[in-house]
Amino acid sequence: MAELEEGIVSLFQDRKGTAVDRWVATTCGYCGTGCGLYLGIKDDRAVAVKADTEAAVNKGHLCLKGLYEWKTLHHPERAKVPLCRRGREMHPVTWEKALEETAERLRQALAAGGPEAVGIYHGGQLTLEEYYAIHKLAKGVLGTPNIDANTRLCMASTVSGYTRSFGVDAPPGCYEDLDVSRLVFIFGANPAEMHPQLWQRILRNRKLNGARIMVADPRLTLPARVADLRLRLRCGSNIPLLYGLINILIKEDMLDRDFIRRATAGFEDLARAAAAFPPERVADLTGVPAADIVAAARLFGRSPSAVTVFCQGVNQTSQAVDAVTLINSLHLITGKIGRPGSAPFSLTGQASALSMREIGGGGSLPGFRNPENPEHRRQVADYWGIPEERLPRRVNDINRMLELIDTGRLKVLWVIGTNPAVSLPDLGFSRRQLEKVFLIVQDIFYPMETAAFADIFLPGAGWGEKTGVVTNSERRLNLVRRAVAPPGEARDDLAIVSSVARYLGAGGLFAWQGPENAFRELRELTRGRPNDMTGVDYALLEHLGGVQWPCPEGGRGTPRLYTDGVFPTRAEEAQGYGEFNHPEGRARLWAVPYAPPPEVPDGEFPFWLNTGRIIEHYHTRTRTKRIPELQALVPGAYVEINPHDAARLKISEGEVVRVVSRRGWIEVPARLTDVVAPGEVFVPFHFGDLDPGEGGRQQAANHLTGRNVDPLSGQPLAKTGACRIERQEAGSMGQEGQGENCSG
Ligand code: MOS
Repeated sequence: MAELEEGIVSLFQDRKGTAVDRWVATTCGYCGTGCGLYLGIKDDRAVAVKADTEAAVNKGHLCLKGLYEWKTLHHPERAKVPLCRRGREMHPVTWEKALEETAERLRQALAAGGPEAVGIYHGGQLTLEEYYAIHKLAKGVLGTPNIDANTRLCMASTVSGYTRSFGVDAPPGCYEDLDVSRLVFIFGANPAEMHPQLWQRILRNRKLNGARIMVADPRLTLPARVADLRLRLRCGSNIPLLYGLINILIKEDMLDRDFIRRATAGFEDLARAAAAFPPERVADLTGVPAADIVAAARLFGRSPSAVTVFCQGVNQTSQAVDAVTLINSLHLITGKIGRPGSAPFSLTGQASALSMREIGGGGSLPGFRNPENPEHRRQVADYWGIPEERLPRRVNDINRMLELIDTGRLKVLWVIGTNPAVSLPDLGFSRRQLEKVFLIVQDIFYPMETAAFADIFLPGAGWGEKTGVVTNSERRLNLVRRAVAPPGEARDDLAIVSSVARYLGAGGLFAWQGPENAFRELRELTRGRPNDMTGVDYALLEHLGGVQWPCPEGGRGTPRLYTDGVFPTRAEEAQGYGEFNHPEGRARLWAVPYAPPPEVPDGEFPFWLNTGRIIEHYHTRTRTKRIPELQALVPGAYVEINPHDAARLKISEGEVVRVVSRRGWIEVPARLTDVVAPGEVFVPFHFGDLDPGEGGRQQAANHLTGRNVDPLSGQPLAKTGACRIERQEAGSMGQEGQGENCSG
């Protein structure tokens, strides 16, 4: 049992034996946990990684991705020179040529089509300083509304959900809550694979303090298997389940009435909406037995503390923003927020995803400023020394940007540190747009899938080659450190973005020398804001091993928010989330509507399609497919099918089947497993299509996913679609697969 609980991350030992010249303290560059580690350098090459036993986050432990992270440096496929397209071929060019061409294309598009003719789409693995530079360039120089990031596919619904409930996009809790809470409620998350060190902390809490674990997930994940109570809900039924819990909490009066009165608004509306979800109806809608729903509500309501950990099982489903607000409400009506062990707690998937949100990645202006608030606009414009009118009022998300390409209005797209040719939904449509637009790609590997569409390629610097701040899931600013120089002529991304600004004639706005200088500039824009970091400098980050914002001057950081029950809900702060006329300073309880997902299984596409992540790989594998140890563990995509469905369809283990949706198809081996329920299949989304040399198989999960989005966040519904399974030799199978478990 112990082994099962720990999962496949069993605790690796430090590589004490490795001979190195020096160990460089840094932060892991994969998921948003933010583990502290040392990168071992010998003869100016990275040769090892060891965990930092003093690191507050991971206390000497690392998962397998982190342990092999040094192998991402010095790889032969690292991009070393800028490239420009000449006909079908990409040719090496000088930096001067590449930058001149980049600036010229941007300038021409702006002149001909205005600010909507250019756009930038970036990843969640850059540094805070780099995001700042990118957003300053996009909003302050190009003045374009077309600026978005991978967060749209990832945490956008949490951004909106936090803002709706609390007035600002700030995760209220911290990792220590996982150590001390009496109940860890894991909702649509699988920390055993996605945030392994946090899973270790949860297990330690259970071992040492007897904490209970409750899991809501359609899949029988490792946490679900070892949970004290497991709620195996159907795909797409988060809203009824959450309402069901709130219904019982109210009916059995397991509430913090004083907190509701003092610190919240909207309780009556929420109670009225929840009254429509008694356990029997919720059981019908979710597939979870009514008795378990009551038991879950009692476990939550009677526990002296509770932390709800949530991730893509919430963010990537329909009504995701609504679900986030209901999770928040669960904590608000029971007063389980703002004290040790109690918080709704989203986990980020990329190393610095929260950095990008605090500097404008979620659609705000730096410091979570509201781009529609004249005062906020003026503050940013004055600080940058630009005309206020240049700042976009609303940003276009990547979905909108693709439409603008499709209709010919967006002409030049610059992709920085992410791989939309694999990560975007409905790849048939998305790749057509990448084909159509003049594409500038800035990345650390060449070739990579998106670079195949590039007209200009700019080689950037990767993890271990640049210094800067990355903010983890608990609002902790950590440092990543440059340990070696980037390969060949590759340059760090801060320098590249600043150079493009210079070629555009705006060099004066990017005059900083190095990242710490840029940090000092951006930090000033957080003064008095929810993410105030004016008390932070690199030396303090080094000294304290990371600092959690807010950290005003003279401060040491803030582990948890809202300890006084006062919330930053002010009318002028966050716009666009509906009317809510209640006193300021209170958290908002929303009565959200419920509707089944827009696409549910039917006769033609009888299975629920669920896509997601696995521990061995990261995002679209740009890095992890180049680590032989990780690649050997899981070399290709597959589809998880329940053995009952497989038997009915006569599919055997390992047989290559065709998974078909309304958008497209993939061909992948079947994995027969009860991890998925009957009527439901799961495909990991990390994999791009195989090159002809590798068999040429089409296997990217996003051939199947669609362009439906959450209307409030614009986040695609990568976890609630419909598909069918076809056997290769036998034609269409699974027509009769419309199981009892997949009605919407
Ligand atoms: Mo995600 S890129 O953790 O918003």
